[in-house]
Order: sequence, then structure tokens, then C-alpha cells
Amino acid sequence: MNLDQSMRRFDAWNQPPTGGTQDVFYSRKSIVPLPMMERAEGIWFWDESGKSYIDASSGPMVSALGHGNPRVIDAIARQGRKLDYAYTLVARNRLNLDYASRLADMAGPGFERVSLCSGGSEAIDNALKFARQYALALGQPTRRRVISLEPSYHGATIGTLAAGGNVALHPFLDGFATRADLVPAPFAYRLPEGETPESYAALCARALERKIEELGPENVLAFLIEPVGGISSGAVVPPPSYFKAIREICTRHGLFLIFDEVLCGAGRSGKFITAHHWPKALPDIIVQAKGIGAGYAPLGAMWVSRALADPLAEIAGFDFSYSYNANPMACAAGLAVLDEFERLDLCANAATRGAQLRAGLEALQQRYPIIGDVRGMGLLLAVELVADPVTKASLPAEFQATSRLRIHGLEHGIMLYARASAGGRFGQWFLLAPPLTVTAAEIEEILSRTDKALRDLSRDAAVAGYLA
Ligand SMILES: Cc1ncc(COP(=O)(O)O)c(C=O)c1O
Repeated sequence: MNLDQSMRRFDAWNQPPTGGTQDVFYSRKSIVPLPMMERAEGIWFWDESGKSYIDASSGPMVSALGHGNPRVIDAIARQGRKLDYAYTLVARNRLNLDYASRLADMAGPGFERVSLCSGGSEAIDNALKFARQYALALGQPTRRRVISLEPSYHGATIGTLAAGGNVALHPFLDGFATRADLVPAPFAYRLPEGETPESYAALCARALERKIEELGPENVLAFLIEPVGGISSGAVVPPPSYFKAIREICTRHGLFLIFDEVLCGAGRSGKFITAHHWPKALPDIIVQAKGIGAGYAPLGAMWVSRALADPLAEIAGFDFSYSYNANPMACAAGLAVLDEFERLDLCANAATRGAQLRAGLEALQQRYPIIGDVRGMGLLLAVELVADPVTKASLPAEFQATSRLRIHGLEHGIMLYARASAGGRFGQWFLLAPPLTVTAAEIEEILSRTDKALRDLSRDAAVAGYLA
């Protein structure tokens, strides 16, 4: 299917019968024709015509176990028949206790208390509300500013959109929600003249300190970051020195350091808790979602220390609840997902298969000048697309490289997750993050199909005269 055909198909979809699919609401100008999926198993999907596709990104880094896991599905059904729902402000349920205890044990000392909710945005919102309530309880009511990275994404509620760092959203947010203050993300690929990734990361840490001083430490509540970048920065991994520096700065100024592991957590980095890669720079709050529910249940979690949670519970309580907090069926799913993590040793598999995938992508980089950079950690890898690998110049926005890549991917039976985030201002990339259950043979199949999609994209770019 070429671009014209896919445009026509999309136009046809824009006049659906009553109802319509969810994508009618999204991406009005998207040229990518989304297949209508019928079933899925493991890393594979099949559409209504019977064509197969590899899920190369676990959806948006959600389906950590792949699709159709019978153990998880059975656990949910069993729990549903026993106790389907129990609201946390009127009743306790054993599944809540078991699941929170298990998550706390996995995070270790400093993260003994776990609050559950239904997804990443809710969990980030919880982390900010917890920090704010704590500041109030301590008699520090002026601590209300949140600092985050530019670019960054922390969720889609009004509060979490405002906590993220996407300047394209400023007209939407201005006067509507209080925006976070932004400091530069420690990118490592396109650096200012004379900087190394280490020296630039040190500069970014200093920018945090300057921002805190500018706002007045007494006014700053939290520094919110993804320890390994997601879609907004393309799997950026800051050097260990950056974590050491930001930990020290947050401690010195009395700020909460919050790690948003919604996307990079739950084993994708090679460790269940991403923060464990930097044990000397642990945050005050960890947030996960996506992979902990693995697509089987909407789950989000916030970890804090007993030392923070228990006194707050005494003084003020953490007063914000959602109807679906810690509901038994979601917790049963979460527990079964953790069982599968253990049974299949998925964190180790993420590290091993991640190394295999990375090596394959680096080999593709040698063949395709359109690949400027391969980066990431474990099974969270990003491939940056460029017009010229020497100057690192981006492809022009009108070429729609990420959408074209997705179309070519679909033609070759692979769903690629790519978005020109922040309007492509920081570059354009796609993420490869298959389910953590992926086998060595499946990694080779992902590489082979990605190879074909990149070949077709390179041909389009050459024909359009965009390649150096
Ligand atoms: C880093 C990060 N934080 C928060 C969220 C929001 O999670 P959810 O979509 O589950 O609300 C996302 C979702 O993509 C994310 O990538």
C-alpha cells in the first residue's frame, strides 16, 4: 500500500457508521492505516483478514508478557468468581495486601509502602499529591512547584500533562493548569559544541540546581524524571554521574525526587525496578504502571518509604482515592503477572534479548545511513532517524518519516511505535520494545522485518532527495 492509498483508506474511515473506532479521536491527520485486529498470542497479532503482525513495542510498552497468557487470564477469572470488587475506603481485600507486599519486597528497603491505582497518569498524579500533602503536613505550604525535563511525558490527565515537558502544549495549558518548570533532558546524541555525554549531563544537573535557586527552594516540591526515557526523549539513558548529582541536589534542597518508571519499569530495563541500576541514588518515590498490569489489568503503583507514609497516615492521611484502587481482580492479575516474571525469569531475558536486539540494530545502522543512533537499555531501545549521520541533521517534518516507517512496517507485518514527539524538535525516532517473553528467533524476525521497513523508508527518502 502506498501513501496515497493509505490516505484514501483513512479518509474512508473518517466517515464511520455511528460510534467509530477510538482513533477517530486521535491523530486527525495520521496517514497510518491501523489494522483491525482480531486476535493475539505471544508477540503476534492477526487482523481480520488473517494477516499477521509482530507487536514490536508491546503496544505502548505495556504487554510485558505478550498476549493471551492463560495463567494470568485464569487468575483474573478465578478471582472474579470469588470476589470481584471491594472498595478500599469501606473494605479490605487480601489481594490488595498480598500484591502491595509483593511489590514492596521487590523494591526493597526505602520502598515499604505501595499505593495502587489504575494506570500511569493516576499513579503520577498520586505521587505529586502525596508529595504535596506531605509538604503541607510538614508546615511547608509554599512547596508547590514541580520541575521536570524538556522534553518529557508523564501522563494524559490535566495535572500530569502539566507536569510534563512539551512546550507545544503550552497554549493548551496556559491559564488552565499550572505548568511544571523545565530543565533540559540529558540527551547524549546531539550535543552542544565541545560537550561529551558526561559533561552535558553535568551541565543539565547544574541547570536543575539553578532552576531551584531561581524559584527558591522553599517553593519547590519535586523533581520528576523518567530514569530511562520513553517516547518523548527516545530511550535516553543518563550517565550514573547524573543520578548521583540530582539525588544530591534534591536532598540538599529538600525536594522529592520522583522516578517515573511507568514506561521503563517492570523489568524492561533488565531490572524490575529501574532505580536499582543506581543504588546509591535511589529516589523518594517510584511510580510504575504499564508492564505491571501487562495489558491484562489497568494497574499503577506508587512506592514510598514506611518513614514517609506512616507518619503522614497519622497526621493527615493520604486522602485521595479512586473507585478502582486496588480492586481484587486487578490485584489478582498483578500477582499472576509477577508469578510469570519469576517463572520465566523475564528481567534476565530482557537483558539478554535486549543485547541481541541492540547488536542487530547496530548492524542495521552500518547498512542504513538513515539510522543516526541506537540507544536504550534492556528491551527498551530507540533508533533515531536522520537525513545525514555525519551532521545528525533530522529529516524534514513534511517527509513524515515516523508515519512512513509505520506504514512500511505494517506492510511487512510489524507494528512499530514511532512518533515525532514534541513536533520532532529534538529529533525523530522509533522504539523497539517487544514483550519481555520474546525468544532469540523472534528477535531475528523483528530485525528482519525492521530491516525491510527501513529499506523502504530509505528508498522514499532518497527519491524525495532528503538523504545526504
Ligand atoms: C513515562 C510515562 N509516564 C506516564 C504515562 C501515563 O501512563 P498511562 O497512559 O497509563 O496513564 C506514560 C504513558 O505513556 C509514560 O510513558
